[in-house]
Amino acid sequence: QSRLVIAIDGPSGTGKSTVARWVAQDLKLSYLDTGANYRAATLWCMRNGLDLTQPETVETQQITELITTMPLAQDLNPNNVSVALDGQDITEAIRTDEVTANVSALSTRPQVRELLVKLQQQAIESRPRIVVEGRDITTVVAPDADARILLTASPEVRMARRRQQLRETDQDPTNVESDVMVRDAKDSALVDFMTPAEGVAEIDSTNLSLEDTVTVVLAEIQRQV
Ligand code: C5P
Repeated sequence: QSRLVIAIDGPSGTGKSTVARWVAQDLKLSYLDTGANYRAATLWCMRNGLDLTQPETVETQQITELITTMPLAQDLNPNNVSVALDGQDITEAIRTDEVTANVSALSTRPQVRELLVKLQQQAIESRPRIVVEGRDITTVVAPDADARILLTASPEVRMARRRQQLRETDQDPTNVESDVMVRDAKDSALVDFMTPAEGVAEIDSTNLSLEDTVTVVLAEIQRQV
């Protein structure tokens, strides 16, 4: 079967991960959550003693050295999303408040992005029928993707969805504003994931249910491929 790469970008709280996973299941494609790469790298740096809460004291070189040797294994099966470091499952550990709060300190360094983008491009080469989801997939990781979509929603709806997601996973929803709005503002320093690049279709999910969003995304993919 021929190559089929679907790129989906967007800010946090759009339901992007769930939508991308459902689309991959529906089209029987692999699935790569690139946010999980950044989160795993953050956890790996934290476990190796770097204090990312004080970003000015951490040299980029310390981070890139650690990432170069990071023993990361990511399952690309949309029915079984799991991430492991050194053989140890970290699927849940990368979703904690602490990792979420520290991830931007790492993802806003160009040298770190370069390493992780390379890793993601290798994953796509190894599984060229894949849905890839993140912030810079349509523009940097796979600008030549067969279908490219930017999934957006209003700030209010994104915070509400995030709150719901945190409650469902028994996490504290009080930091949702900093989790969504502040993190997006920080993440925007190097990557524009609020406006669609040329050739990228924007889908606004503000007034759409999850099911309807998946339907609209699938229709847009059909239109583009
Ligand atoms: O999508 P998720 O919220 O899991 O992403 C976690 C973090 O990883 C983002 O806040 C951002 O800092 C970083 N990220 C990125 N580029 C991507 C995907 C995620 O910088 N393509």
